[in-house]
Amino acid sequence: MNDARLLFDWRSRTSVRRWMFDSAAPVWERHTSWLERQLRRADVLMFIFEEDGKPLGHVNATQTKNDASTWEWGFYIGAEHTAPGSGSRMLLLMLEFLFTRKQAAYIAGITKQDNIASINTHLRLGFTRRADAGPKVLRFGLDRETWLFCHKELEARYFSESI
Ligand SMILES: CC(C)(COP(=O)(O)OP(=O)(O)OC[C@H]1O[C@@H](n2cnc3c(N)ncnc32)[C@H](O)[C@@H]1OP(=O)(O)O)[C@@H](O)C(=O)NCCC(=O)NCCS
Repeated sequence: MNDARLLFDWRSRTSVRRWMFDSAAPVWERHTSWLERQLRRADVLMFIFEEDGKPLGHVNATQTKNDASTWEWGFYIGAEHTAPGSGSRMLLLMLEFLFTRKQAAYIAGITKQDNIASINTHLRLGFTRRADAGPKVLRFGLDRETWLFCHKELEARYFSESI
């Protein structure tokens, strides 16, 4: 369960926590039982993103109950001093996994309304803003057709050496 410790440490960082909807500091026992439950679920994907052998961040996705082709994701870069574009590279890989391996039709994301990095990231990846999810909460969505149209160019940009 080394990954459990890594996720706990990342999730404890204020720079990550402040953007979560539950921004309280995690508690170890609750964290490990939550993680065990998540890993047992067939409708949940949990990944750690690495570059050059170094773990940088976490991305997860949950299949929605009423529509198996829709997944809602969550993510963060947990490591310090990451190169620009790390988050976008992590998320581009996740989108490819969801749209190809999982045959997803639609990916949904929600962010706090002042989370500029997450908002910019969603928009950069081709998501569009949907009706607001509630007070101070923004909702984004990306359908398969839009992803098919834009993903090659985005991948070329983010995975090239020049960034
Ligand atoms: C959202 C997140 C994964 C983006 O990863 P990243 O590696 O920082 O992002 P990138 O370098 O790919 O940059 C993505 C965009 O966000 C912008 N950005 C990054 N950090 C920013 C910050 N602190 N303030 C404002 N904009 C920021 C970048 O300029 C870029 O926008 P652009 O493409 O228009 O130039 C990362 O910032 C993060 O983990 N944030 C904390 C957790 C979080 O908010 N998770 C999402 C919850 S919905």
